[in-house]
Amino acid sequence: MPIFKKKKTAERILPEHIAIIMDGNGRWAKKRALPRTAGHAAGSKKFKEIARYCNKIGLKYLTVYAFSTENWKRPKDEVDNIMKIFKEYLEDTKNFKDENIKLQFIGERSVLDPEIQRLMKQSEEDSKNATGLHLNIAINYGGRDEIVHAVKDIIASGVKADDVTEQMISERLYTSGQPDPDFIIRPSGEYRLSNYLIWQSAYAEYWFSDILWPDFKTSDLEKAIDDFNKRNRRFGGV
Ligand code: IPE
Ligand code: IPE
Ligand code: MG
Repeated sequence: MPIFKKKKTAERILPEHIAIIMDGNGRWAKKRALPRTAGHAAGSKKFKEIARYCNKIGLKYLTVYAFSTENWKRPKDEVDNIMKIFKEYLEDTKNFKDENIKLQFIGERSVLDPEIQRLMKQSEEDSKNATGLHLNIAINYGGRDEIVHAVKDIIASGVKADDVTEQMISERLYTSGQPDPDFIIRPSGEYRLSNYLIWQSAYAEYWFSDILWPDFKTSDLEKAIDDFNKRNRRFGGV
């Protein structure tokens, strides 16, 4: 009788940089006959849980989409509420220094409330030596806006058109120096990027799901990572 050797199961590989579009807060609230504000509060709580979990499993980079350059189109009350939740989060960051998470904000911050800008700077400063998860929070972030910024900077520095390289653009994005996201997760049943990391995601793998963000569980993240492990990434090769 032939002896079949049991195939050794390969080690699971963590993506290097996961990016999440935290979408579906409004619909989550609507399903419960709650105001949209309740959905944003639940989404914020979920964000903290998932970020902590990513840090625990040893992920190196996580980027979450909290507010887009297009989200200003929403009713003022809703925008104010999102900014209030963001401010509360910033005020709270000093209480979890022991988590060893390095915080960075990406997006155009100059138009945000000055107190919020101060708190953003403060929490980046306070966590700059953390060696755990590098957590980017995208706030007033737009991928096109980010590329326009980079192009303006290249032109302003006097680079000749013929000398422009992809690297020059990458280096001028908010994520400069970081690996590109290799895995992008979008819950809520929408199949689009909504202006998220459009340059950086050129070769990212995508994972879509109908789960609304406040319902997203760590086991869903685990499932997504398992799926990532089944992808065959070729980068244009064979
Ligand atoms: C994502 O949830 C949060 C932000 C865009 C700030 P939404 O508020 O977009 O929730 P839906 O898409 O309306 O359900
Ligand atoms: C993307 O969600 C932005 C964030 C999650 C912060 P949106 O709800 O704004 O995206 P669209 O409008 O469905 O494309
Ligand atoms: Mg949405």
